[in-house]
Amino acid sequence: MIERIVEGLKHKPGALLPILHSVQDHFGYIPESSVPIIAEKLQLSRAEVHGVISFYHHFRSHPVGCRVVHVCRAEACQAMGGRTLEEHIKARLGVDYHGTSSDNEFTLEPVYCLGNCACAPSIRVNDDIHGRVTPQKFDRLVDELTT
Ligand code: FES
Repeated sequence: MIERIVEGLKHKPGALLPILHSVQDHFGYIPESSVPIIAEKLQLSRAEVHGVISFYHHFRSHPVGCRVVHVCRAEACQAMGGRTLEEHIKARLGVDYHGTSSDNEFTLEPVYCLGNCACAPSIRVNDDIHGRVTPQKFDRLVDELTT
């Protein structure tokens, strides 16, 4: 599958980023085994590919849970109780950032603005953005998603 993704995109200008996005969209993360394949096909060193993966916070090198919760840590959300919400979410899921809950349901990631500042504090669960999130609202959301 990785070969097919790389073959399909390698002729695009700046192909590395679209390839990494596509690999992550498919697998949920960028498997270590994909790095030498990508490097060889793009005639880059493995270090260069690793460098790009580690530079962009968006890219993950480890498997994720069924759902990825992105918590906005930018200014507008912080001003509206984001820090309290963030601590609650970490405690509720039992993980820190970049961690996955023991039941493999949730992976927690920070994000810096979801474009939903007017409804701060905001989070995104997979592709769905939720605004004006309180600890109680987050608990209800988790209950809905896991029952
Ligand atoms: Fe949080 Fe913009 S600052 S959505």
